Amino acid sequence: MKKLIFATGNPYKVKEVHKMLGGEFEVASLKDIGCEEDIPETSPTIEGNALQKARYVYEKYGLDCFSEDTGLEVKSLNGEPGVRSARYNGEVKDSEGNLQLVLEKLKGQADRSARFKTVIALILDGKEHTFEGIAEGQIRHEKSGTGGFGYDPIFQPDGFPVTFAEMSDAEKNAISHRGKAVSQLVDFLKKQPD
Ligand code: IMP
Repeated sequence: MKKLIFATGNPYKVKEVHKMLGGEFEVASLKDIGCEEDIPETSPTIEGNALQKARYVYEKYGLDCFSEDTGLEVKSLNGEPGVRSARYNGEVKDSEGNLQLVLEKLKGQADRSARFKTVIALILDGKEHTFEGIAEGQIRHEKSGTGGFGYDPIFQPDGFPVTFAEMSDAEKNAISHRGKAVSQLVDFLKKQPD
């Protein structure tokens, strides 16, 4: 079985990705390898942050690994919060404050279209690969649902009458930005020789 490190400290993401990878890959978290530090995310782009995290783990531990970075891009906010999604409301990560700030800034805006973008960066045998997943949707006027995390309660994916926070994990994974990026990662990994 192939073993990969998933370079994230977010247990929700580990759970989501673990389910999607199925039984073919063993995924270890940063905690599993004794890495407790906050890995720097200082790039001006989502792709850059994903690569930065994967390179950090690869250089420090010498293990095959992947990382992901996600941002919410709201069209009428010129793509904000984007790469600043985790700290939109200030330097302390505050999901509720971030989400409320998006609702506040969108007051009176007719165009509420937005998208989640995920980039996964994989380092396998020293080579870098990236995979991108996008979920298009609309920002609701108020929160709805208690599932998921982050901006999920205000994001309604196109083609569905509910927010991500009102879906089961399986329903969200099937159509989400991260789900799409992980599918590409899995397809790629399955093509690798044993
Ligand atoms: P990061 O990729 O962990 O840096 O996430 C950036 C920000 O986007 C954080 O505030 C997360 O809560 C939020 N975020 C990431 N993925 C999702 C998602 O699938 N749904 C809702 N919010 C998300």
